[in-house]
Amino acid sequence: TKFRTSKPTQIPGLCFRTFNTSPQNNFHVAVLGASGGIGQPLGMLLKVNRLISKLTLYDLQHTMGVAADLSHIETPAKVKGFVGKDKLCEAIECANIVVIPAGLPRKPGMTRDDLFNKNASVVRDLVACVADTAPKALIGIITNPINAVIPIACEVLKKKCKLDPRRVFGITTLDIVRANTFVASLSGVSPLEVNVPVIGGHSPETIIPVFSRATPGVKVSEDKVKTLTKRIKEAGTEVVKAKAGTGSATLSMAYAAARFTNSLLRGLAGEKDVIEPSYVQSDVACGINYFASPLVLGKNGIEKNLGIGKLNKFEEELLKKAIPVLKKNIATGVKFVSK
Ligand code: NAD
Ligand code: LMR
Repeated sequence: TKFRTSKPTQIPGLCFRTFNTSPQNNFHVAVLGASGGIGQPLGMLLKVNRLISKLTLYDLQHTMGVAADLSHIETPAKVKGFVGKDKLCEAIECANIVVIPAGLPRKPGMTRDDLFNKNASVVRDLVACVADTAPKALIGIITNPINAVIPIACEVLKKKCKLDPRRVFGITTLDIVRANTFVASLSGVSPLEVNVPVIGGHSPETIIPVFSRATPGVKVSEDKVKTLTKRIKEAGTEVVKAKAGTGSATLSMAYAAARFTNSLLRGLAGEKDVIEPSYVQSDVACGINYFASPLVLGKNGIEKNLGIGKLNKFEEELLKKAIPVLKKNIATGVKFVSK
C-alpha cells in the first residue's frame, strides 16, 4: 500500500483566464451553508476552479449577496444563489458534488462532540434532500462532529435505499494540510513537497498522523514527532482559542475543502491515481465501520480504499486509543437516525 496524497502544486484547480487548458470543465458543485465562515471563502476557491461550470450556493441567509459578489469573478463557472429551505432541492438538482459546511462552529471550552445536538439534524435534513434530488452526487461533509455525522449521512441514505458508500466523505483534509505545514516548518522542506498521511477520525483522540509514512522521509526526532502529533491533534482548538469566541478555522478549512473537492473533480474527470485521505464507511479498522484512510478517487467516488498500511509502535498505540472513541461516536450517529 502506498501512502501518497494527490497534492496540488498550486492552489487546487486555480484558474486564471490564461490557464484554462482542461478539456473537461463542466461539473456542477453545490455548497450548502455557503454564507458562513467556511462557505464564503470556499465558494471563492470553487469559483476559480477550472473543472467547475456551475456553482450553486445555498444557505438559510445571505446567499444572494454572496452569489452576486462571486458572480463578478472572471472565470467560467456560473454562480447561482438559493436562500431558504424551500429552495434547497433546486440548489442541489443535478449536482455532481455537494459540499456541506452548514452548521454551528465551536466556541472556546467546547469539544466538537458538543456540536452534535445542533448539527446532527442539519446534516440529516440536508442529506435527505440530496438523496431525493441528486442521489448520484458525491457528498463531502465538513460539519462537525465529523466522526458522528458521516454515519448519520450514510444511515439517512440507507433508509432511502440510496446509500452508495463510495460517494459519502467526511472531509478530514485540514488535518493533513496542518501536518504538512507543521512538519515542513520544522524540517525545512517546502510544504508543497511534504505529504503526511493522517488517518482515523477528526477529534483529538482519533486524529492519527502517520509520520512513519510521510514523503519525503521525515527526519525529526521521536520527541519532535510526539510534539508535532499533539499539535496536530489540538490544532482546531489552537484556532478556536485564537479566535476568542468568534468561531473556528474557516480560511484554512476552505482551502482544505477546495483541495478535497478538486481531488473529487479530478477523479470524476477520469484522472488516474488521485489519492486523498477521508473519513468514510469502510472495514479497514478492526471492530468499526467508519475510518479515515487514503482513498483512490475515480468516476464513482472511492475506487479503492488503501487502508491503514504499516504503522510503527507509536502510531499503533494511537490507533488502539482511537478505536473505542470512534466506536462510540459512530454509535451516537447511527442511533440518532434510528430513533
Ligand atoms: P458559520 O456559523 O460561520 O457558518 C455556518 C453556516 O451554515 C451559516 O451561514 C448558517 O446560516 C448555515 N446553516 C446553518 N444551518 C443550516 C441549514 N440547515 N441549511 C443551510 N445552511 C445552514 O460556521 P463555519 O465556521 O463555516 O463552520 C461550519 C461547520 O464546519 C461547523 O460545524 C464547524 O465545526 C465545521 N468545521 C469542520 C472542519 C473540518 O475539519 N471538518 C473544520 C472547520 C470547521
Ligand atoms: C478544526 O479542526 O479546525 C475544526 O474541526 C473546527 C474545530 O472545531 O476545531
